[in-house]
Amino acid sequence: MVNVEYKFPKGFWWGAAASAPQTEGAAREDGKGQNIWDFWYEKEYNRFFNNVGPEVTSDFYHRYKEDISIMKDLNFNSFRTSISWSRLIPEGVGEINPKAVEFYNNVINELIDKGIEPIINLYHFDMPLTMQNKGGWESKEVIEAYASYARTCFKLFGDRVKWWITFNEPIVPAEGGYLYNFHYPDVVDFKKAIQVAYNTMVAHARAVEEFRKLNIKQGKIGIVLNLSPTYPRSNNSADLKATKIADMLINRSFLDPAANGRYPEELIELLKQYNHLPKFTELEIDLLKNNVVDFLGINYYQPRRVKAKASMSNPEAPFMPDFFFDEYIMPGRKMNPYRGWEIYEKGIYDIMINIKENYGNIPCYVSENGMGVEGEERYIVNGEIQDDYRIEFIRDHLMWLHKAINEGCDVRGYHLWTFIDNWSWLNAYKNRYGLVSLDLETQKRTLKKSAYWFKEVAKNNGF
Ligand code: BG6
Repeated sequence: MVNVEYKFPKGFWWGAAASAPQTEGAAREDGKGQNIWDFWYEKEYNRFFNNVGPEVTSDFYHRYKEDISIMKDLNFNSFRTSISWSRLIPEGVGEINPKAVEFYNNVINELIDKGIEPIINLYHFDMPLTMQNKGGWESKEVIEAYASYARTCFKLFGDRVKWWITFNEPIVPAEGGYLYNFHYPDVVDFKKAIQVAYNTMVAHARAVEEFRKLNIKQGKIGIVLNLSPTYPRSNNSADLKATKIADMLINRSFLDPAANGRYPEELIELLKQYNHLPKFTELEIDLLKNNVVDFLGINYYQPRRVKAKASMSNPEAPFMPDFFFDEYIMPGRKMNPYRGWEIYEKGIYDIMINIKENYGNIPCYVSENGMGVEGEERYIVNGEIQDDYRIEFIRDHLMWLHKAINEGCDVRGYHLWTFIDNWSWLNAYKNRYGLVSLDLETQKRTLKKSAYWFKEVAKNNGF
């Protein structure tokens, strides 16, 4: 008998998350249309770490069977990936690509066949280029195109897929593409960022609406949000005020409409005061109200620490969220130096308690958590990466998650980012996150030490 000190609820999801653009490769194959990443790489390959673009990945498009069979060996009972909109509908609207339908059918069937619940996400940062050329999330026409794409997916795959996700981390394309230069279209414009963020939530609600119209038996629909619990430097009232604003702008701006169907009043007031309220209609407000999610996926990587601004922002510089707060660098914080993110395990517990207390304890699961490390080959012993740091990272987060569950939080699973080292946008293959390491040259897959550990945890439903 294995001694299990931290036992998780029956049926708890153990697995990992991934995304189409980060794993499939085959970017130009079988009729796939271009998305913004294919295009941006073509235009400015130097922006990508070591000039590695989205064409070079772990080749899930051809190797899904091998990968799913490794997942099965690792005792995964669930796996999230996404559908590539530009693969399924190359022009964004209109004709469906039969090769893509075949591929996604194969993946879904293979997962089910191996006893792995597929959780399918519709959008992981990968706007079809044709849609971006129409304005991307700035455009109401694109929202409707997305709703129609979502409906197509529900109809094609909804007989087998029970768990749907509308968006992964919808704040990221708004921040990356319209504030901080790490997503295409690479502009800096706060007003647009706010409009894009809002429009994305409208698109999300339209997908939920379409899903419910189809009345798919046993199907559930949710959204994946990256939540960063926000902590003040001190109890000084200016620090507290700055923290509250940061939390509203960065977490509640998505969490509240997704789970409660409305934006926080104070956020609306704040944006009004600075003349940054997005354009909206009463119909959209009703749409959001009537289409809250069935469940939440929560991605947790790092906390946010905040202090009151030390000095005024340059009034001529572009307006940024940090007009309201400064980042606080806490002395002695534990860091993942490769990614530059703080590691704070208790954050996962704080998020779950917040969901329980302020969001009706809506069912949720940890949809991503993980640790990207550069140069992992230096940890190879006898051909295997000894990633004890990853084991420790996962274990310590799970201990806090377990405590949250014991205190009544309705948490249904834990997915690691990620199964196999994958292509990470501008960082490409700099930081490796997988349980399985990938040799990019040969495409050889090798289990890391953490994979064996995770396999046991999944088998014993705890550790
Ligand atoms: C999440 C995303 O933000 O974190 C993934 O959903 C991403 O797409 C992961 O790869 C890790 O972040 P990064 O930037 O190191 O790849």
